[in-house]
Amino acid sequence: MARLRVSSTTVAVLVVIQTGFLLFLYTQQGTLPAPSAEKPARTHLLILSSWRSGSSFVGQLFSQHPDVFYLMEPAWHVWVTMSQNSAKVLHMAVRDLIRSVFKCDMSVFDAYMPWNRNLSHLFQWAVSRALCTEPACEHFPRTDITREGACKTLCGKYPFSKVEEACHTYSHIVIKEVRFFDLRVLYPLLTDPSLNLKIIHLVRDPRAVVKSREQSVKALARDNGIVLNTNGSQVEDPEYRVLQEICRSHVQIYETATLKPPSFLKDRYLLIRFEDLVRDPLPEITAMYTFADLQLTPKLESWIYNITHGQGPSRKKEAFLITSRDAVNVSQAWRNVLPFQKVQRVQEVCKGAIKILGYQAVDSEREQKDLSLDLVLPHRRSQFSWASFSQN
Ligand SMILES: *[C@@H]1O[C@H](CO)[C@@H](O)[C@H](O)[C@H]1NC(C)=O
Ligand SMILES: *[C@@H]1O[C@H](CO)[C@@H](O)[C@H](O)[C@H]1NC(C)=O
Ligand SMILES: *[C@@H]1O[C@H](CO)[C@@H](O)[C@H](O)[C@H]1NC(C)=O
Ligand SMILES: *[C@@H]1O[C@H](CO)[C@@H](O)[C@H](O)[C@H]1NC(C)=O
Repeated sequence: MARLRVSSTTVAVLVVIQTGFLLFLYTQQGTLPAPSAEKPARTHLLILSSWRSGSSFVGQLFSQHPDVFYLMEPAWHVWVTMSQNSAKVLHMAVRDLIRSVFKCDMSVFDAYMPWNRNLSHLFQWAVSRALCTEPACEHFPRTDITREGACKTLCGKYPFSKVEEACHTYSHIVIKEVRFFDLRVLYPLLTDPSLNLKIIHLVRDPRAVVKSREQSVKALARDNGIVLNTNGSQVEDPEYRVLQEICRSHVQIYETATLKPPSFLKDRYLLIRFEDLVRDPLPEITAMYTFADLQLTPKLESWIYNITHGQGPSRKKEAFLITSRDAVNVSQAWRNVLPFQKVQRVQEVCKGAIKILGYQAVDSEREQKDLSLDLVLPHRRSQFSWASFSQN
């Protein structure tokens, strides 16, 4: 925290300068030439992750920022509407939906929702601070840290058109998605000159993912069918097969972005491991904000301190709440809970992902249970990212 504390006045000063500059730009709009098409005014950020990998928490880190318009898994609507198809077939519909949302064109939801709709029709709308504050919902000022419960009570009845209206007022559009299994699907968005797309690839130890997925088997059943392209029929061993597909996609995405990447990916891909975030949140959060061109505000700084230290009014209430210590424990819980045979099985189907993402496989039950043995190998960020962080 010390590092942040020291910088808070600097941040405040920068925010004031930035605000002044923006005001200047707005007042000058009539006289300045139209902004050139080559540099889009907005930043578009995709948090690319998988189920049960800490992406709701990372989503909140962005959602609560007053410059960010955030949606959590808008492509849920695509999958629910067309659940007889495979993830591969749905990739294109998902990508088109993401593109439209990035451009604040919410008419794309016409295909997936009734005409007469309001804010509450949007999947997980109340976790988006932008949909709980002005101008989407008049009950909370834009700079508030919002909470899902209070937002649900007060903001659900606002018309759906508020989504688009609010979106247009933000400099950063952030979407979290778990429904991409191939980075190449996103190339048309990365090369679209009207977008300024950056990708945070959030991964987690597959053995911890398995433990976490076991707690929500029912909720994941339909998604599993789409991942495995079963169209409702039963298949053997769905859990391992889904996991295998998820691990395969992490390897594909990571390798595509780091081994011989196309030039348009330069500085647009950042890998974050959930375990690193949990063990030492601030450097990881700072890296993500820097990558996304966002400044830490004093209020966010206080909120982040609170949620990572189990303090403040929202303690224990929010699903994404982690304290450093609890979360480190939680991220190790699989080592006490999963039978060794299961761990072996996971290590088999996810062999490539475990190796390439810097986790250590265990060879015996003794190794698994010996918590003094660290199974998260350290990494230097430069190995994992195109972006260079000069201040780190
Ligand atoms: C908004 O949506 C909720 C949930 O579907 C519904 O109960 C409510 O009547 C809707 N309100 C309006 C004004 O459409
Ligand atoms: C999926 O299953 C339904 C009902 O069993 C069937 O009508 C439909 O044709 C199937 N769709 C595909 C794409 O296989
Ligand atoms: C953090 O916690 C402190 C102490 O409970 C509280 O006064 C403060 O308002 C909290 N900050 C935020 C942004 O929630
Ligand atoms: C973390 O786990 C250890 C061993 O499993 C346990 O003794 C300890 O109480 C846990 N700490 C917290 C903060 O939950």
